[in-house]
Amino acid sequence: MSKVGIVGAGLIGCSWANVFARAGWTVQVWDSNPQQCESAKDKIAASLHELAAHGLVQDADTATANIRVVSTLEEAVSGVDYVQESGPERLDLKIELFRRMDAAVAPATILASSTSAIVPSLFTEELAGRARCLVAHPVNPPHLAPVVEVCGAPWTDPTVRSRTRAILTEIGQSPVDVKREVDGFILNRLQAALLTEAFRLVEEGYVSPQDLDRTIADGLGLRWAFMGPFETIELNAPGGIADYCQRFVPWFRRYAADPAPLRVWDDDQWRRADAAWGQTPSAEQIAEKSRWRNERMAALLAHKRAQKNF
Ligand SMILES: NC(=O)c1ccc[n+]([C@@H]2O[C@H](COP(=O)([O-])OP(=O)(O)OC[C@H]3O[C@@H](n4cnc5c(N)ncnc54)[C@H](O)[C@@H]3O)[C@@H](O)[C@H]2O)c1
Repeated sequence: MSKVGIVGAGLIGCSWANVFARAGWTVQVWDSNPQQCESAKDKIAASLHELAAHGLVQDADTATANIRVVSTLEEAVSGVDYVQESGPERLDLKIELFRRMDAAVAPATILASSTSAIVPSLFTEELAGRARCLVAHPVNPPHLAPVVEVCGAPWTDPTVRSRTRAILTEIGQSPVDVKREVDGFILNRLQAALLTEAFRLVEEGYVSPQDLDRTIADGLGLRWAFMGPFETIELNAPGGIADYCQRFVPWFRRYAADPAPLRVWDDDQWRRADAAWGQTPSAEQIAEKSRWRNERMAALLAHKRAQKNF
């Protein structure tokens, strides 16, 4: 049976444990905070049972039985084929965790980080085993959003990249090959472009934040659950992408030629958008809404799985 080490058992680490456990892997989980270790197994079990209710996990109890929470990093990575590091998004901690993991694992073990935006060359350069290190960046929560961006450093062995993509595919995720290091990888750069324009449209008084959100939730997002922007525009003109570009290029050129300077993420701007949003939810409300989001995402994922052959 294949074995994975999960280092860091917060939001993302627990969700990764779900993904590997339901795929039949033995999962060894560790966190530096004993309280996180204590609650990890219950949290992962609960998320597995939620998936079972949508037919996305056959047997949540069997999957839960694959998980072992351990008390040291070294135990977590002992005898594993693959490690998914999911500690805090801090370069100094990534450097330290990768140093310890590299010293502890067998030569063939792959070391992957969940980092959202730190390119792997920044925390693997000095390691003896740097050729087996890379980033496997998931979307929150990975047990409901399958995409994972796989990005190596210049010294990452190409076979490590291909083995990582094969492992991710085998466990039911959807790997994307980031061909070379870029700040923010692909997903967060796309998100940044959208959020930057969203803040600008709200700031300049064109739309309320609520109506802007509905433009995505009831518009673009409905298509985006099934297809990306290229496939979207392919269907937006009878002759496909080239036809679309010929029809709409004048407007896109006007848009691109009107580069009002972007006041990106300046404090006043986001505070005004937050005030226009009009509510600051409590931690309990965030948790409640996250449960609702996960429930809806699970239903959508079950629907997508059923349509797989389209
Ligand atoms: N939250 C997201 O939306 C999201 C999405 C994709 C990727 N990520 C990335 O995943 C990683 C984890 O993010 P998260 O949202 O789960 O954060 P989190 O704060 O929920 O979890 C981080 C965990 O790391 C533990 N930790 C702290 N110091 C540690 C150490 N030295 N060794 C081991 N564990 C340690 C903490 O106790 C905590 O349980 C980050 O790199 C983040 O950028 C987050």
